Amino acid sequence: MGRLAVLISGRGSNLQALIDAIAAGKLDAEIVTVISDRSDALGLDRARRAGIPTQVLPWLGEARRDEYFQNLQMILEEADVELVVLAGFMRLLPKELVRAFPQRIINIHPSLLPAFPGLNAQRQALDYGVKIAGCTVHFVDEGMDSGPIIVQKAVPVYDYDTEESLAERILAKEHEALPQAVALVLSKQWQIRGRKVVCKC
Ligand code: GRF
Repeated sequence: MGRLAVLISGRGSNLQALIDAIAAGKLDAEIVTVISDRSDALGLDRARRAGIPTQVLPWLGEARRDEYFQNLQMILEEADVELVVLAGFMRLLPKELVRAFPQRIINIHPSLLPAFPGLNAQRQALDYGVKIAGCTVHFVDEGMDSGPIIVQKAVPVYDYDTEESLAERILAKEHEALPQAVALVLSKQWQIRGRKVVCKC
């Protein structure tokens, strides 16, 4: 059974999707720790309700960035996890941490990457005027919202959409995409060919 660490900063609905998929027997994994950089993250309550140990690592400020991520790396190594899932964790990981967990960190982003990386992806999609939006789960590399794509799901964008209505439609797909991506990665039935994650199955 794959041991997961899930990193969050807020609401934790993607964390909940993982908890639910595990409870439903759709994902053979165990979330051994949920780590948040904010003590008021709603996702912490979701973890506690599910009986998952939580840790709060409050952000120490830019000046102590190195120390922060060294500490985080130590915690992840001690937790002996197979996969680290960034589920709404709002900080860019340093290259040292990424290199310490090669192809063992994944992120979920609310756009069809490589379009609209960074903050407010749904707003960016609306402003650009795209007709199709979606979400991406990808391996984390040293860039921002870059790295080989594992799963993507698309949704239509309607003329009457607001940022909220589009975000909600994308979020429903995120909740499908993340457990699927975690299951695929844990199955080890994949390889990276060029920039692509391809299924060995
Ligand atoms: C999601 O839209 C995710 O794609 C992005 O941050 C948001 C987190 O939502 N990275 P939640 O905390 O999982 O509800």
